Amino acid sequence: MKALILKKPGEAVVESVAEPQPSKDKLLLKVRMVGLCGSDLNSFRGKNPLVTFPRIPGHEVCATIVEGSKDNRALAAGTHVTMSPYSSCGKCASCLRNRPNACQFNETLGVQRDGALTEYITMPAEKLYTANLTIKELCLVEPLTVGFHAIARARVTKQDAVAVLGCGGVGLGSIAASHFIGAKTIAIDVDDDKLALAKKAGAGHTINTQNESLHQRLLDLTDGLGPDVVIEAIGLPQTFRAAVEEVAFTGRVVYIGYAKEPVAYETRLFVQKELDIMGSRNALPEDFRRVIQLLESHQFPVDDCVSSILPLEEGPEILRSWSDNPARFSKIMIRMD
Ligand SMILES: NC(=O)c1ccc[n+]([C@@H]2O[C@H](COP(=O)([O-])OP(=O)(O)OC[C@H]3O[C@@H](n4cnc5c(N)ncnc54)[C@H](O)[C@@H]3O)[C@@H](O)[C@H]2O)c1
Ligand SMILES: [Zn+2]
Ligand SMILES: [Zn+2]
Repeated sequence: MKALILKKPGEAVVESVAEPQPSKDKLLLKVRMVGLCGSDLNSFRGKNPLVTFPRIPGHEVCATIVEGSKDNRALAAGTHVTMSPYSSCGKCASCLRNRPNACQFNETLGVQRDGALTEYITMPAEKLYTANLTIKELCLVEPLTVGFHAIARARVTKQDAVAVLGCGGVGLGSIAASHFIGAKTIAIDVDDDKLALAKKAGAGHTINTQNESLHQRLLDLTDGLGPDVVIEAIGLPQTFRAAVEEVAFTGRVVYIGYAKEPVAYETRLFVQKELDIMGSRNALPEDFRRVIQLLESHQFPVDDCVSSILPLEEGPEILRSWSDNPARFSKIMIRMD
């Protein structure tokens, strides 16, 4: 069968690989469509320290069950599913606390182990999710779960004002999740196109920090108190700091962004405001189920999110164009049939 393989940094090819075999605990699936995200671009560029080469990327997947599960009738042959790309060891502190999303020894599909940009894959039944969704929608579930998980970490309710720093794929999930709960949702970015998409995904208010004062606008939108919750989905030192500076006293800050350098803080604010400061990583099964509910309710602008859908053969070329011109694409999807 064919697969897209990252041979070394900057080099992707479509080549033949052996077909996987189903086993006692893994079902055989035919891959239908795979979404690409910033982490796949990072892998292609050789910038992801967790990726070794050669590697088959792909972790945002819609696939069709080839051989149904004997134990679960919902997982019958012919059913379209999406999947959680994470693994968990069951033994580390996170797993023992029932938070396998943050497993110390997690291996994500397409990162630490080969992914789904291939014709067939095998997956354990418990990683699969059925839904009343199209192939394209099923592919969008996983990228939205990361932002949903951060909103769950922040215990957002509809009484909250939630500011989301960054409206890329990850921030957009938090915006949709916050709006889905009914919270006042404020989207922040430096790119008007991203802010326009954030509005369609549920942001009631947008702030472009290139030409507006973040501090003043947030105070105006929250009766002078500041937002109850700030989600950081960018990963820059200045936005890491802005989160604790702008959040209300006794508010909650959730970091999803990975900062690439150390961040210096005025830690007095942590104490003086008595903040809850949290990290958020990957997603839990309940986050997958909530994203599926959102997409099934047709409240998310699926078509506006996807910039192109291409066949596998064009995968290597699109990775090169995307790497040369990252701003030109939002979400690229590769169809496998
Ligand atoms: N914690 C996790 O599980 C997890 C998972 C995936 C990604 N991430 C991290 O989340 C972050 C966001 O990922 P993404 O894929 O959405 O990235 P992205 O590049 O698609 O989005 C970032 C957004 O931030 C905006 N931005 C950049 N600089 C800004 C600034 N100074 N002020 C306001 N907005 C600014 C950009 O215009 C863009 O819209 C990254 O750091 C990534 O590594 C974390
Ligand atoms: Zn992704
Ligand atoms: Zn673990």
